[in-house]
Amino acid sequence: MDINQKTAGSGCGNRSLPPVTITCLIRAALDARRFSYAPYSRYCVGAAVLTEDGSVFSGCNIENASYGATICAERTAIFAAVSRGHRRIIALALAAAPEGTEPAATRDYPSPCGICRQVMREFADPKEFPVIMAKSPEDYRIQSLEELLPESFGPSYLQEKTNTATEQ
Ligand code: THU
Repeated sequence: MDINQKTAGSGCGNRSLPPVTITCLIRAALDARRFSYAPYSRYCVGAAVLTEDGSVFSGCNIENASYGATICAERTAIFAAVSRGHRRIIALALAAAPEGTEPAATRDYPSPCGICRQVMREFADPKEFPVIMAKSPEDYRIQSLEELLPESFGPSYLQEKTNTATEQ
């Protein structure tokens, strides 16, 4: 399977993930989705992130009776990585479908919410970061974080501001 056929838009800079890595991340996302706690929306999501050293962290969405306390699968996975000391993430896969439905049977590919895109931005290089939106290990699309979150605000803005402030 040609990875480029699966890459939508302008792709992810020069970094292309080996197909085996993509498959591994999608499988981890699908596996994590089994633990989704979604009694209110009944929309079950799983995600997995690859860190710089090759580790994979996964997570699911976890809802709350106080709806605003809900956390998405992508953030669960990213926070699992960061809370183990991994501050650079290389790629993320997500899979989603209503409870009782397989992601492979959904019409649309899953798409990360805006808050999760911003959290990815904190720990990733947007130009190089592939977001793998999967129905199955064989059926997915990839867009870079920059495509999903153009002209984004990130840590360097505050860094520059801090430097300017200390220079004055
Ligand atoms: N959800 C995610 O886990 N990730 C997203 O990117 C979109 C939404 C979850 C949150 C909530 O539990 C359910 O899907 C419905 O919004």
